[in-house]
Amino acid sequence: MKQTEFKRRRKNVMQQIGKGNIGLIPSAPNQTRNRDVDYPYRQDSDFYYLTGFNESGALAVFIPGREQGEYILFCREFDEKKALWEGAHAGLEGATTHYGADDSFPIDDLNDILPGLIENKAKVFYPMGRDSDLDHKLLEWINHIRSQSRNYISAPGELVSLEHILHEMRLFKSAAELKLMRRAATVSAQAHRRVMQICKAGLYEYQLESEIIHEFMQEGLRAVAYPSIVAGGKNACVLHYTQNNTKLRKGDLVLIDAGAECDHYAADITRTFPVSGRFSAVQKQLYQLVLDAQHAALEQIYPGNLWNKAHEASVLVITRGLVELGLLSGDVEKLIEEEKYKAFYMHRIGHWLGMDVHDVGDYKINDQWRVLEAGMVLTVEPGIYVQLDCLTVEAKWRGIGIRIEDDVLVTKQGYEILTRAVPKTIAEIEALMQGK
Ligand code: GLY
Ligand code: MN
Ligand code: MN
Repeated sequence: MKQTEFKRRRKNVMQQIGKGNIGLIPSAPNQTRNRDVDYPYRQDSDFYYLTGFNESGALAVFIPGREQGEYILFCREFDEKKALWEGAHAGLEGATTHYGADDSFPIDDLNDILPGLIENKAKVFYPMGRDSDLDHKLLEWINHIRSQSRNYISAPGELVSLEHILHEMRLFKSAAELKLMRRAATVSAQAHRRVMQICKAGLYEYQLESEIIHEFMQEGLRAVAYPSIVAGGKNACVLHYTQNNTKLRKGDLVLIDAGAECDHYAADITRTFPVSGRFSAVQKQLYQLVLDAQHAALEQIYPGNLWNKAHEASVLVITRGLVELGLLSGDVEKLIEEEKYKAFYMHRIGHWLGMDVHDVGDYKINDQWRVLEAGMVLTVEPGIYVQLDCLTVEAKWRGIGIRIEDDVLVTKQGYEILTRAVPKTIAEIEALMQGK
């Protein structure tokens, strides 16, 4: 992502914060794995969105109209010893020369400098409750300003959520963001194709997981967007199954929900396919139903349509189909009203997708489902899960879990599926798996 993109975003957020106010956003902390070993670092998405700065121990400050510079970055000072042990870091100079800050200060001097930047500002925009240390410090700084006996200094009167501004911005993807999302989607699609081609009975679920990660890494995408789900047979009925430690059995389906992250942008794909390359008659029936539900949902993706319409379309197709196949019985409308389908389809049709896999952005505005607009990206992922102990259905259906998930961009004309390179019809999947 080019620096100009981050600059454009800062300009936008600066305008919304407004003169006379101040905005603050902290970087993500390092997370300890054990003793002195950390988990791989993942920057906070909001912080990265505005700064492109990938270090912990930083705080970005936005002061619209400040003559000496509107964008201040507090960060770690360059430290040769740290550079030797942990590698490059920007330091104060890098913060201004490489990351576009107008001013930079050591994070260790925050307590001395920040109260002076906050005084006489009317509102402080910041992510409330996200960083308890910042919450605490901010109140201390405000109290400190209040307690000063000097005249003409006032403490801010309002704390305002910065997320509200940022998350609405993040919901609409720019050309630069879509480029990264397409890359995440393309590589993830390749990985799904790869596992379809090598899958066979007797492998462990984690062996398929390793093939997925192999493909991501070979393509330069070193992080998964979320822990991969590789769920053979009945494991697919556990929605967030990540144990991935069971042997795949001939005759079972395997559900794989996996996506890569490309420069902080996620892909999120699910495919369900037969371990040994051919769907049974029973599996075909349920699979086709989920696919039909996805098609019906996709038809509802166009600008001006309500977000919820895709979900409603999937519920109608799934409920009707479950009645036809005999898993539910009764009047379709009544079954929907009574939410009987939820025994088999217990999640919603999808979610916003972006820097976070379950991305930010409101789904409702003033308690009404929001309208889709060009530039939004969402997943469309209906599923049917028949638990092993579901005694109300014939035994042949039990222990089958199926989800089909694609990443979809709302366009001016309708939609574009970013993850279309992975086969999903029965014929396409069987052909790829059998090397045809
Ligand atoms: N991979 C998480 C989800 O599909 O929502
Ligand atoms: Mn999803
Ligand atoms: Mn998913």
